[in-house]
Amino acid sequence: MIMSHMITSITSEPFSNPHIRKVLDSVMSKVLYESNGSATFCDPFARESFTTLLPNCITNDLNKEFEWCDYNLEFKDFAHTIQERGHVLDLVFFDPPYSLTQLKKQYDGIGKDLELWQTKNMWKEGKDILAHMMPSGSYVVSLGWNTNGFGLKRGFKKTEIHLFEQQAREEQHTLFVVVERKVQRTLSEFEYQTQVEGIDC
Ligand SMILES: C[S@@+](CC[C@H](N)C(=O)[O-])C[C@H]1O[C@@H](n2cnc3c(N)ncnc32)[C@H](O)[C@@H]1O
Repeated sequence: MIMSHMITSITSEPFSNPHIRKVLDSVMSKVLYESNGSATFCDPFARESFTTLLPNCITNDLNKEFEWCDYNLEFKDFAHTIQERGHVLDLVFFDPPYSLTQLKKQYDGIGKDLELWQTKNMWKEGKDILAHMMPSGSYVVSLGWNTNGFGLKRGFKKTEIHLFEQQAREEQHTLFVVVERKVQRTLSEFEYQTQVEGIDC
């Protein structure tokens, strides 16, 4: 497992931080190398980051102000939509609002009401769907205030954890950047396959 720690300045656009970008670039290079350049990336919370300029990246942001994204949908609706279109994802960037307070602020900012389900486990359904669209060997890079990522239950094993501590703002949370690789099918895919094949387990 690769681990690192750094003190740096983090804004509301973490992908523009050069140290974070270095982590992202290294994962992208790996994925492109392993797929002979034919990989599909996905950024469900793209804002105006560099991912919106990548021709092989499916981008989304709820905020319609970011009109250059491929979609302007709520995360789980975006996940359903691209699943219906049959995409296979080799790399997902997962950089949502990090807390309910941040999420509420963004909803207020675009004049939307938060629904009850969003106050519970806000990203679960969308993550489940994306995990099903990802083959073994694919990657997720998650940013947040914890190291949960997509997790083993969805078939992902952590390969890197990077800690970015806020420079000169000790009241701010440390940002974790977690890289995970899919090592197995998700539990429900496995259960489905064993039913189809009639395997007892
Ligand atoms: C942390 S920012 C992403 C920043 C981006 N990675 C960067 O470095 O520039 C999170 C983004 O998620 C969007 N967002 C908030 N709630 C969302 C939701 N439910 N579904 C999709 N996008 C959402 C916000 O509009 C915001 O632009």
